[in-house]
Amino acid sequence: MQATAIAQPNIALIKYWGKRDLALNLPAVGSISITLDALYTEVSVDLGANPASDQLLVNDVEDPDRLPRMSACLSRVIGEQRPFARIETRSNFPIAAGLASSASAFAAATVAAAAAADLELDQALLASLAGQASGSAARSLYGGFAELANNGDAIRLSALCDEHAWPLKVVVAITEPGPKATSSTEAMEISRKTSPFYNTWVQQQAGDLATARRAIEERDFATLAAIAEHNCLKMHSVMWASRPPTVFWSSATLRCLQTVRKLQQDGCQVFFTIDAGPQVKAVCQPEDMAAVQEALSQTPGVQEIMTTGLGPAAQLVRKS
Ligand code: PMV
Repeated sequence: MQATAIAQPNIALIKYWGKRDLALNLPAVGSISITLDALYTEVSVDLGANPASDQLLVNDVEDPDRLPRMSACLSRVIGEQRPFARIETRSNFPIAAGLASSASAFAAATVAAAAAADLELDQALLASLAGQASGSAARSLYGGFAELANNGDAIRLSALCDEHAWPLKVVVAITEPGPKATSSTEAMEISRKTSPFYNTWVQQQAGDLATARRAIEERDFATLAAIAEHNCLKMHSVMWASRPPTVFWSSATLRCLQTVRKLQQDGCQVFFTIDAGPQVKAVCQPEDMAAVQEALSQTPGVQEIMTTGLGPAAQLVRKS
């Protein structure tokens, strides 16, 4: 009746931005991500605690705002006729700040809920259920490099390369630890409805995915770097041109990009990516990690640095 699972957040190199079906939370485009190892969210689901209604504690604090989405996630996995649950989540990194905490939280919650209810669901079904809670959560059911393909009425996930096969490093520069002002879902809908660049973004995604897929297969860092930076800047351009515009960047975000450009000019194999928040993730070869970490930590406005390698799929850690 009680289970605990751990999932790591993932960051997209080829981004998911825009929904084809809002109710089913189906993405308009496919995406390719890397799952991280040092950052994690642990979620416990207790179906035997008998609370009067679902209860959610996030880092030990009751969180009624996040509860409805978490309750819906549990009901999707277990069924509407389930007992009320006590859910506890704990993350070792800032949540709701563009570090994909919803991905790790919903991936872990899906795995924990299935185990607490004694359901044996395969990885593909768990990924699809997690994806209905948060699009990017589906990818955290897989480790290393994963692709979420968008085919028809369902999503399909595939592992492209595991975390040991191409052990890249990621340096996360936190420029503002507070929660973001606009949710991804809200901002995606504004982009879809109003951005003059939205249709082009959707049309070009298959080409970007193919380029990245090939680069990963061939361990071609330079090609992956170029397509990931292009795809990231294109996604943010879609948002910047929407009405009202969505600008997740801070001035320190831009300074971090300049730092990454300088590192590249100095010969470091590194590239940046930015999600729905002001943080910058610099992906690099292991031998360049120290230089990237040093340069980003000296960039004005950077408040904290986290470093990580690539991590495994979401997993069950306890069940009773
Ligand atoms: O999973 P969501 O709904 O939080 O959306 C994620 C959106 C981006 O992080 C910006 C891109 C991505 O593919 O992860």
